[in-house]
Amino acid sequence: MLQNNALCVKVVVAGNDDETRREKKYYRHLEKRNISWEMIPEYHGDVETNLGTGSVFDLIVDHDGAVAKTLEYYLASNEKTEAHGAELKQALVSLKEYLLAHRIITMTLKPKNIVYPLVGAVEPRLVVIDNIGNSDFIPVCNYNDFFARKKSSGNGKSLKNQC
Ligand SMILES: Nc1ncnc2c1ncn2[C@@H]1O[C@H](COP(=O)(O)OP(=O)(O)OP(=O)(O)O)[C@@H](O)[C@H]1O
Ligand SMILES: [Mg+2]
Repeated sequence: MLQNNALCVKVVVAGNDDETRREKKYYRHLEKRNISWEMIPEYHGDVETNLGTGSVFDLIVDHDGAVAKTLEYYLASNEKTEAHGAELKQALVSLKEYLLAHRIITMTLKPKNIVYPLVGAVEPRLVVIDNIGNSDFIPVCNYNDFFARKKSSGNGKSLKNQC
């Protein structure tokens, strides 16, 4: 979802770009399915930079234009967690519903890879900004509703064992 044309460019600075390639492939798959980009940033193609090829994504921002902070940041102190407790709870429920409804698969969700934009009166939401898609050897979950639902509803078991 492009709110204000704020974009960010991601370049690989360490290691190889296998992960980026895998993620882009999954993004193409989601584009074909025409999903809503409400809780994952939309991918806008690549640009060449002085640090190599960069991938362009929506930048998730607070209502004042500041870059949204991570869920890890809000969970790091009791004070911040309490200040946003009800909204965070609502946003977590919405994120789960969104991922299930759109059958979006992520690697293990980590609070540092989720941002919580402060959006004022608008319904609170969380946005998964990294580790989208699936690193299984044969990612059958990406192509099959039954396995996708099994994988995204989790159940505490190893996701790989369910797939
Ligand atoms: N689309 C985005 N909108 C707003 N902030 C973002 C976005 N993408 C990344 N960030 C911020 O940049 C940080 C690092 O981004 P990302 O997770 O993609 O890179 P990384 O190399 O995997 O870093 P890390 O190892 O910290 O996870 C995130 O934790 C988040 O704070
Ligand atoms: Mg990350």
